[in-house]
Amino acid sequence: MPGHIGIVGAGLVGAGWTIVFARAGEQVRVYDAAAAIRDNFMAVVGQQLDDLKRYDLVDDPAAILARIQVCDNLAAAVQGARFIQESVLEQVAVKQEISAAIGPLLGAGAIVGSSTSGIPGSAFTEGAANRERFLVTHPVNPPYLVPVVEVVPAPWTAQDAMDGAMALMAGVGQSPVLVRREIEGFILNRLQGVLLREAWALFEAGYASTADIDKTVSEGLGLRWSFMGPFETIDLNAPGGVADYAERLGPLYHAIQKSRTDPQPWSGDLIDRVDGERRRALAMDDLGARRNWRDRRLMALAAHKAGQE
Ligand SMILES: NC(=O)c1ccc[n+]([C@@H]2O[C@H](COP(=O)([O-])OP(=O)(O)OC[C@H]3O[C@@H](n4cnc5c(N)ncnc54)[C@H](O)[C@@H]3O)[C@@H](O)[C@H]2O)c1
Repeated sequence: MPGHIGIVGAGLVGAGWTIVFARAGEQVRVYDAAAAIRDNFMAVVGQQLDDLKRYDLVDDPAAILARIQVCDNLAAAVQGARFIQESVLEQVAVKQEISAAIGPLLGAGAIVGSSTSGIPGSAFTEGAANRERFLVTHPVNPPYLVPVVEVVPAPWTAQDAMDGAMALMAGVGQSPVLVRREIEGFILNRLQGVLLREAWALFEAGYASTADIDKTVSEGLGLRWSFMGPFETIDLNAPGGVADYAERLGPLYHAIQKSRTDPQPWSGDLIDRVDGERRRALAMDDLGARRNWRDRRLMALAAHKAGQE
């Protein structure tokens, strides 16, 4: 199907999506409600492309930039697009309003994916025109370095819209995951939520410092997780595969689950204690530099994974 890619909402995530699509050769038209974001957009994307070039993750930043056009109104970005990626603020009312504005502008066959981190699409697309063309395409930041995308239908999403979004994401080099029906937090943030729940609870009860809990992941579990998930991990960790693992260690995991039956919100006092340890390890003024370090490590990892068999 012909047509460009429309980006609606051009902050952190919208800029990342723009690189994903333009890097793959798509023509991209970008709209953000804030003039300051629109005015700075090409400079922001240009800087990110220069960083990617340093790690050999793109060939020709100028050619990529030439495929990007910033528009000063929504219709110019949406009309004639075959796919629109919406990345406005994570608030139901804002998502509802933009979905209602996008719906009537859609051409036949166009698909709209929302970047929402965890709000089910049905919470903000029910009243939109052409609501069967709307779904969720949830990325991880920055999407041009972390390829997974959760593709989630609302109850009224058309099957061909789901198929089209899955195919497009794979075609532009992302790794789409099909979430068969809506659930709050989708899969990625639910998995992350389980780990965070245990991390906060272990810290609260004084079993280990924040640094040592983090180290258990960065020097342990996380090394495998950059190339395999929990099911494959346990399949390889018992001589007889996953069934053998379940027999040996199923009772341990059941006991751990039973020990956590009463979820509590993170209290103010607990947050202060975690924050205290983190700020002693990394001063507030150094957060930005550390984020840049993280992105450089991700670039090196992405380059390594690109050469993986
Ligand atoms: N930041 C992350 O790590 C991350 C990861 C995955 C998904 N997301 C999701 O992506 C979405 C965007 O998050 P972000 O971090 O890029 O936020 P952001 O604040 O950087 O960007 C949001 C942009 O939307 C624009 N906007 C607001 N209302 C608009 C409208 N009506 N029309 C056009 N533009 C409008 C704002 O001007 C702003 O530039 C959210 O749904 C968020 O949950 C974020």
